[in-house]
Amino acid sequence: MDNRAIGVFDSGLGGLTATQELRRLLPDENLVYLSDSYNFPYGEKNRDKIIEMSLSNMRFLLSQDVKAIFVACGTATSNALEALVRESPVPVFGVVEPAVVEAVKCTKNGKIGLLATRASVGAGTYQKLINEMTPEFYVTAKACPKFATMVEDGITDKDDERVIRAAEEYLPPLKQAAVDTVILGCTHYPLLADVISEYMGSNVKLISAGAAAARKLCAFLLENDMTNGTREGRIRYCTTGSPEHFAATAELMLKQDVTLFLTGIEPFDKGGNI
Ligand code: DGL
Repeated sequence: MDNRAIGVFDSGLGGLTATQELRRLLPDENLVYLSDSYNFPYGEKNRDKIIEMSLSNMRFLLSQDVKAIFVACGTATSNALEALVRESPVPVFGVVEPAVVEAVKCTKNGKIGLLATRASVGAGTYQKLINEMTPEFYVTAKACPKFATMVEDGITDKDDERVIRAAEEYLPPLKQAAVDTVILGCTHYPLLADVISEYMGSNVKLISAGAAAARKLCAFLLENDMTNGTREGRIRYCTTGSPEHFAATAELMLKQDVTLFLTGIEPFDKGGNI
């Protein structure tokens, strides 16, 4: 048993798609969720900046005495996982490998689609891993820079014109490639699963990278006897952005008020908190 919390971070709300699955599997775990909203969007930053921000997030979470780091962000995982693992005294979990493993198992025709941020698609981490595991499979990757911003703005309704237009902009190459499995490689994208599914067709399977990674983390904690021994886990939320904005959009997604458990913190690159 290990009663310490799990530290989770993302650039915004997207990581909540991972924590929701983790809560479903292990409701007794305590979580510290860090949303580095001040620096959103990570997907438009360069690799060095993403590594720097990710290390700052991890150092903050480590200062909260966590037993594991959950990088609930495809962009941070794609660009900074190695740097995080090198520095961390506790196990670090990213979202790329678990999503790829699920996608490779799931596809029947060997044609996998990847939707992710520009910095994830550019890093090529998802594509490389699929290729290493199954060189005969074909990956069609598409960066979707508007998607995460729409989610942060609470624009996710599949009938919203802006959502439909963005889907029509990004999804045609995946449809033309006849993929039967799509990795939602940015943790924000499951919030747009309805429109993606409607466009791609219900026979195309969507893999949420955050949820896949939560399942892997759960298995690791159980195998290593590291789950929380006390009952009723709590989530503490911290954001480097506007707490009001985080609370309002998180409430839309989680259908619950998070203000009681939410703390606003100084952005790390302004010298705060660690
Ligand atoms: N949720 C982040 C990811 O999984 C991306 C959003 C951003 O661009 O900051 O890639």
